[in-house]
Amino acid sequence: MKKKIFIKTLGCQMNIYDSNRIYDSVQRLGFEKSEDQNNLDCYILNTCHIRDKAKEKVYHEIGRVKKLYREKNKPIVVVAGCVAQAENLEMLKREPYIDIVIGPQSYHKINDKLKNFIKGDRVEETEFDTVTKFNYFDNIKNKNNKVSSYLTIQEGCDKFCSFCVVPYTRGPEYSRPFKKIISEVESLIKNGTKEIILLGQNVNAYSFKEKLKEYRISDLINKLESYSELKRIRYTTSHPRDMTDDLIECYSTSKKLMPFVHLPIQSGSNKILKLMNRKHTVEKYIEIYEKLIKINPKIEFSSDFIIAYPGETKNDFNETLNLVKKIKFINSFSFIFSPRPGTKASSLDQINKEIAKERLLKIQEYLFKFQLRKNESFINNLTDVLVENKLVGQKKLFGRNQYMNSVIFEGNKNFIGKNLNIKIEHVNQNSLFGKIEKNNMRAA
Ligand code: SAM
Ligand code: SF4
Ligand code: F3S
Repeated sequence: MKKKIFIKTLGCQMNIYDSNRIYDSVQRLGFEKSEDQNNLDCYILNTCHIRDKAKEKVYHEIGRVKKLYREKNKPIVVVAGCVAQAENLEMLKREPYIDIVIGPQSYHKINDKLKNFIKGDRVEETEFDTVTKFNYFDNIKNKNNKVSSYLTIQEGCDKFCSFCVVPYTRGPEYSRPFKKIISEVESLIKNGTKEIILLGQNVNAYSFKEKLKEYRISDLINKLESYSELKRIRYTTSHPRDMTDDLIECYSTSKKLMPFVHLPIQSGSNKILKLMNRKHTVEKYIEIYEKLIKINPKIEFSSDFIIAYPGETKNDFNETLNLVKKIKFINSFSFIFSPRPGTKASSLDQINKEIAKERLLKIQEYLFKFQLRKNESFINNLTDVLVENKLVGQKKLFGRNQYMNSVIFEGNKNFIGKNLNIKIEHVNQNSLFGKIEKNNMRAA
C-alpha cells in the first residue's frame, strides 16, 4: 500500500510551486498525496517568514498535528520553507515533535532524508545548494496538470532591502538554464496547462548566460509565445530596477502576455525608499508606468506597500497616498512594517501602533476604492476568462480574466481550460459574477 503524505503550504506562490515539486519527488519513494490529515505517514509544513508571528504560527500548527495523533503512531513531521531556513536547529530544540527541518535550497535531499529516516533521529538540512537542487528536479517530471501553473525560473535575492528576510531564507539570486525551463514548460503544456506564471523573488532579474548570449525574461516570454496550446503568460514578482526596455517591449509584441503588471514600490517617498535600500526612486517607477501605458494603454497595475516603515512621517505617507491616487492600482498588498529578525530594519525605532493602523486604513480605503471601481467597470461588459475549475459542490465554474479578477459563472465542466467571453452582471470587492455570452465563445 502507498504511504500517505500531505503538505500544508503557507506563504507565496513559490512555496506552492515547491510543494508540488516535493510531491513529484516523494512519489518515487511510494508516497501518495492525501488530504486526510488524520492518517498520514508524513506531514510537511511549508512555511513563510515574511511577516509577524511566522514562527509562532509554525509551532501552533505542529501542536495541532500533535493533537491529531495523540492516540496513534505519529507521521514523520517535516518543517520546510523560509521559517525552517531561518530557525534551523532552534526548531528541533524547541519542538521535539518535529523530525526534519529542511530549507528551500535543500529540497533535493528530501527523498534521502525520508528514506533513511530512523525514528528518534532529528535531522536538519539548511545549506544553500541551489544549483544541485534545480539539477535534481530537472530530472523529475513536473506532474502539475492545472490549467494555470507556476514555474520557478529564478530564485533568491541579492538586493537586501532593509526590511526583508528573503535574501537570508532563499539565498543568493540564481537563474535556471533557459533550456531546462523550456523543457519544463513543454511538460506542463503536455499535462494540459494553458497559462504559465513565471516565478522568482526578482523574476525580471532573470539572467542566464550561455556562450555569448544572455537570456532574459523577455526571451522566455517570446519563446513561450510560440506554443500554440499555451494561451496566457504572466510573471511575478518583479522589481522596478529590473524592468528593462526589452521586457516593456513584450507588452506590445506578445499577444499572450497579460496586460497586468504587479510591480511592488513599497513607498511613494524617495526618503523612505532610500532608507529601505530599495535601489529605485518614485520618478523611476513613474517612468516605467508611463512607458508601459504608452506601449499598451490597457495595462493595469498592482503593487506592494509597507506602511509605517521606521522614519515615515505624515508627509512621506501622503506621498504614498498621492502615488496611489495617480496610478490607481487595481489590486495591491498593503501591510504595516513588521520587524524581521536579522534584518537591518529590525533594530530601528518603530512608529506608534495607532498611527500605523490609521495610515494602513487610509491607504486601504483608496486601494479598495480603485479595486471596486475597476471591478464595476466590467458590469454589462464582456470579459475574456480562462476557465480554471469547477467550484466544489456547485454548478458554477471559476476562472480569471486578463487582470487576474476571479470570475464566477454557471457552466459545464467541459469548458475547463477554454477561454470564454463572460458577460458580467454584478461584482464585489474580490470577484466578478456573470454568464456565458451565447455564441460568443472565443476561438481558443
Ligand atoms: N521581491 C519583491 C520586491 O522586491 O518587490 C517582493 C517579494 S516579498 C516576498 C513580498 C512583499 O512582502 C514585499 O513586496 C513587501 O511589501 C512585503 N514585506 C517584506 N518584508 C516585510 C516586512 N518586514 N514587513 C512588512 N511587509 C514586508
Ligand atoms: Fe525582499 Fe527586496 Fe529582495 Fe524583494 S528585492 S525579495 S523585497 S530583499
Ligand atoms: Fe514567505 Fe519565503 Fe515566499 S518568506 S513570501 S515563503 S520567499
